[in-house]
Amino acid sequence: MDLLEAIKEKAKIEDKCIVLPESTEERTLKAADIILGEGIANLILLGDPSKIEQLSKELKLHYTDKATIIDPITHEKKDHYADMLYDLRKHKGLSRDEALKLVEDPLYLATLLIKDKVADGEVAGADNATGNVLRPAFQVIKTLPGISVVSGAFIMILKDQTFGEEGILVFADCAVHPDPTASELAEIAVSTAKSTKAIVGIEPRVAMLSFSTKGSAKHSMCEKVAEATKIAIEKQPNLLIDGELQADAAIVESIGKSKAPGSSIAGKANVLIFPDLGSGNIAYKLVQRLAGAEAVGPVLQGMAAPINDLSRGCSVDDIVNLVAITVNQAAQV
Ligand code: ACO
Repeated sequence: MDLLEAIKEKAKIEDKCIVLPESTEERTLKAADIILGEGIANLILLGDPSKIEQLSKELKLHYTDKATIIDPITHEKKDHYADMLYDLRKHKGLSRDEALKLVEDPLYLATLLIKDKVADGEVAGADNATGNVLRPAFQVIKTLPGISVVSGAFIMILKDQTFGEEGILVFADCAVHPDPTASELAEIAVSTAKSTKAIVGIEPRVAMLSFSTKGSAKHSMCEKVAEATKIAIEKQPNLLIDGELQADAAIVESIGKSKAPGSSIAGKANVLIFPDLGSGNIAYKLVQRLAGAEAVGPVLQGMAAPINDLSRGCSVDDIVNLVAITVNQAAQV
């Protein structure tokens, strides 16, 4: 069974509820139909119920009536969620009236449903930019204890099985935090190792990437990565991690041996941590396009409950897969 099938099968065993705030978006509703039909998750669909019903009819969908549908504009618990949001954000200057208006925004309501334990996770982004999905999540859900930054990992499934774990590599951060400090980069490494174990089911071997291997170049950018490696080891002494390493030393065994002799992971890394969002985002897109790799994600990590952001170019299958991943993450919380 391939990785994505295994993730979906695992999701079917869990009894988790995922909220989809963009339910009147066509791909999202088609994905909802598959998810409900296959029993991957229970769903809450946010949107005008008559529009959802109408679109379901037009698209000839069979299972969307199995979902709980909540209209953000008219639903009965608006005041309750406005109070919750007001309590969470009044110290930042949010007024009660502004909170009441914001809970009509499905992206805010989705996070409040999770905070209220009505839903276990959220998938959005088919119709909204990353920042619009993430901001309510940062404000309402916040990060896990001991974690200050949320980051985004991609599971890269390569055609060439000689790299990583039989062709699977996890890349981060490719989606969220533009310019991490050494300590934030260490957190990203620890979070990605955890996601790798939880979602991919493999023992992480983490390479902290740079344009230098073990001091071969002297620059503050390389020193930041070396420092991040030290901090990650302090945080998690049993983690298999090394850095700073160049990409070839991280993934090619012969180069790993010659550039970083004695390293526990050089040449056989299956998790690649990039020094900043620029390099991570560029790298995953190049590997996806030039090597024809499947890029699954971004899987957001470090959040107190799982919320995942789709690319606006996503397919129906991408949405189904990300919901299955979100269920797997929710099962770990
Ligand atoms: N982790 C946790 N919390 C965060 C993070 C983070 N990485 N970044 C911001 N926050 C919190 C802040 O602490 C703040 O909380 P507070 O209001 O309670 O104090 C709140 O979020 C807002 O912080 P801002 O600094 O104002 O952040 P802003 O809203 O401007 O930006 C954002 C956050 C949208 C994530 C920004 O960092 C961003 O745009 N990142 C890049 C996203 C992107 O475009 N990625 C590439 C495309 S995705 C792809 O290709 C797959």
